[in-house]
Amino acid sequence: AEALKVGVAGLGTVGTSVVQLLEKHGTQIARKTGRAVTVTAVSARSRTKDRGIDVSIFDWFSDPVEMAKQADIDIFVELIGGDTGAAEDSVRAALARGVHVVTANKALLARHGVDLAEVAEENNACLNYEAAVAGGIPIVKTLRESMTGNDVSRVYGILNGTCNYILTRMEADGISFEDCLADAQRLGYAEADPTFDIEGNDTAHKLAILTSLAFGTRISSDNIYMEGITSIATADIQAADELGFRIKLLGVAQRTETGIEQRVHPTMVPKSSAIARIDGVLNAVAVDGDFVGEIVLVGPGAGGNATASSVVADIGDIARGDKTLVLGMPAADLKPYERARMRLHEGGYYIRLS
Ligand code: NDP
Ligand code: HSE
Repeated sequence: AEALKVGVAGLGTVGTSVVQLLEKHGTQIARKTGRAVTVTAVSARSRTKDRGIDVSIFDWFSDPVEMAKQADIDIFVELIGGDTGAAEDSVRAALARGVHVVTANKALLARHGVDLAEVAEENNACLNYEAAVAGGIPIVKTLRESMTGNDVSRVYGILNGTCNYILTRMEADGISFEDCLADAQRLGYAEADPTFDIEGNDTAHKLAILTSLAFGTRISSDNIYMEGITSIATADIQAADELGFRIKLLGVAQRTETGIEQRVHPTMVPKSSAIARIDGVLNAVAVDGDFVGEIVLVGPGAGGNATASSVVADIGDIARGDKTLVLGMPAADLKPYERARMRLHEGGYYIRLS
């Protein structure tokens, strides 16, 4: 078959790695999927910026919306970021003409996921987003494909690499919050606006996607209780340590008698628990299914190469011809978070992890 033509919009941390990965592993991707995949077009703001890739060999678009509308592509890969503006407009434009979309943009999906899924379905296009949750961990495929035979009661985990990196380094190296955040930005882990990481929004966006997949609900981040890590001081981490706990920023979605509870907050986890040992940029996602029991996936939650691995997995699914119904499921049974359910424990939240 003819090679699948890919346009990459956004050539920052993730976009550059995607172009490099497709170049490096083109032969094995063709072998594994049965179809060659080639980048034909790219878009970013600056054409002259040194990115470590040669952009002159691709069709260049300074406007990603123009690329989505005009480029000769089968797949539009959105790696710009933001829940509105260029990212939203270009994704809509690509889907509207039946071009498949692969995105890592959880903010966009949390806000417009249902709507975009409808546009995708109307135009018989795929909307794939493995990289939008937990970077390199294949949690979207796990929930969508591997949990088909299970009733899921809970999904929770460490979903933000920047926050976990900050909390780990504050504890291990005694470095200040601000310096840890600056390092996370330098390493390409943080969002363009890092307040989304440290205030918990990014975890909430990912949790909204996980909830939709796990419980078959319409995606929405409206009812998520959210508290980030900005008020965590080194003294809190030391106090937790003396009590036998570590502090982790968790996202939790679980079925309760009154509906599906969704919450994001710093949590004191027993040092003996597996989740306490998830360090640095690693994420962990646990899923409780009634037949399989609990499964836990661990891996890098941010960073260019790890995230590119998930983006290319989505491209590979399209190359194989897989078409999956993505979001926009009908039952909206989300209930407001009930704060009283949690026990306040020494200035932090405690949940039982079995
Ligand atoms: P970066 O900020 O590194 O890159 C963003 C890219 O988008 C840049 O190349 C920039 O161009 C381009 N861009 C921004 N605005 C426009 C515009 N209006 N028109 C054209 N191009 C534009 O972001 P990341 O690579 O870190 O993240 C991209 C997406 O992936 C985000 O949605 C993020 O949430 C998600 N993500 C990121 C992860 C990570 O570890 N970094 C992990 C998982 C998901 P220029 O370079 O010219 O300025
Ligand atoms: N800023 C995000 C994080 C990128 O640190 O987890 C991955 O989604």
